[in-house]
Amino acid sequence: MIQQPQRIFSPREQTHLARFSADPLQKTTSTAPVEYLTGKAEFYDFVLDVNDSVLIPRIETEELVASIMKAISEKLASNSVKLRVLEVGTGSGAITIALAKQLEAKWSQLQFVAADISQSALTLAQKNCEQLLGTAAPVTFVKSNLLTNIQSQTFDIIVANLPYIPSSRIATLDEGVKDHEPLLALDGGLDGFALIARLLDTAPAVLAENAQIFLELDHTHSLKNFEPYSKLGWQVALSRDQAGHTRFAQLSLPV
Ligand SMILES: C[S@@+](CC[C@H](N)C(=O)[O-])C[C@H]1O[C@@H](n2cnc3c(N)ncnc32)[C@H](O)[C@@H]1O
Repeated sequence: MIQQPQRIFSPREQTHLARFSADPLQKTTSTAPVEYLTGKAEFYDFVLDVNDSVLIPRIETEELVASIMKAISEKLASNSVKLRVLEVGTGSGAITIALAKQLEAKWSQLQFVAADISQSALTLAQKNCEQLLGTAAPVTFVKSNLLTNIQSQTFDIIVANLPYIPSSRIATLDEGVKDHEPLLALDGGLDGFALIARLLDTAPAVLAENAQIFLELDHTHSLKNFEPYSKLGWQVALSRDQAGHTRFAQLSLPV
C-alpha cells in the first residue's frame, strides 16, 4: 500500500495544534487549515469555535474591529439613546462578539444585530456568542440575504466583511482556502465588489442619522469602486491594513 506523505506544519500551525488538539491530528494528510482540524480559531483576545461553514477570521479583521470600537466609543459619548450596530455577513460572529465583549460595561446602551445568509454560520455564531458572552448579551442573530430581512429598523453603524475576492482569483488561492473555506464566504463576483455594491445600494433605508458604514475590501478595490456613492455626496475614506494593502472603507451619507 502506498502511504500518503504526512503533512508538515508551519511553526504557527504547530503552536495552534499544541494548544488546541490531541496529538494524532499532527499525523494528518489533510490540507485543511488547522483551525478546521481543531474546530478552534483565535481572534482578538478570545477563542471561537469554527467549522467549514464559516470563514476563519483573519488578522486584518481585528484592525477593522479596532476602528469600529473607536467610532462606537465616540458615538456613545455623545448619544443618549441606544446605539444600534448591524453586522452583515457575520460568519463565526467574530466581529460582533469582539465588539460586544469589549463593550460589556455599556451593554445597556447598545443593541447588536448580526446577520448572515447562511443558517449554519448563524447557528455557530449564536453558539459562540452564548459561550463567550452569555445569554444576556444584547445581540440578535438574523438570517438575511444582505438587508432583505432587516427592514423597519435603523442603525448607527453598519459593518460588513462580505465576500470580496474576484471570482477569477478563487482558483489561484492556497488550497487550504479554496478547497476548504466556504465559497459563499469568499466569492465576491466579477470584481469582488458585487455584494458590497448591493449592500451600499440598499443601505440608506436602514441608516440612522449620522450613521457610518465600515467595510473590509479586497486590495484591488479603490475609490473608483465607490464613485457611484461619492457622486451622491457620500463621504468615503479608504485605509490600508498593517501589511500596507488597501483593506478598509469608512463611509457616511451627507447630512
Ligand atoms: C468573508 S466572510 C466574513 C465572516 C466574518 N464576518 C469574519 O469577518 O470573519 C463573509 C460572510 O458573508 C456571508 N454572506 C455571503 N453572502 C451573503 C449575503 N448575500 N447576505 C448576507 N451574508 C452573506 C457568508 O456566509 C460569510 O459568513
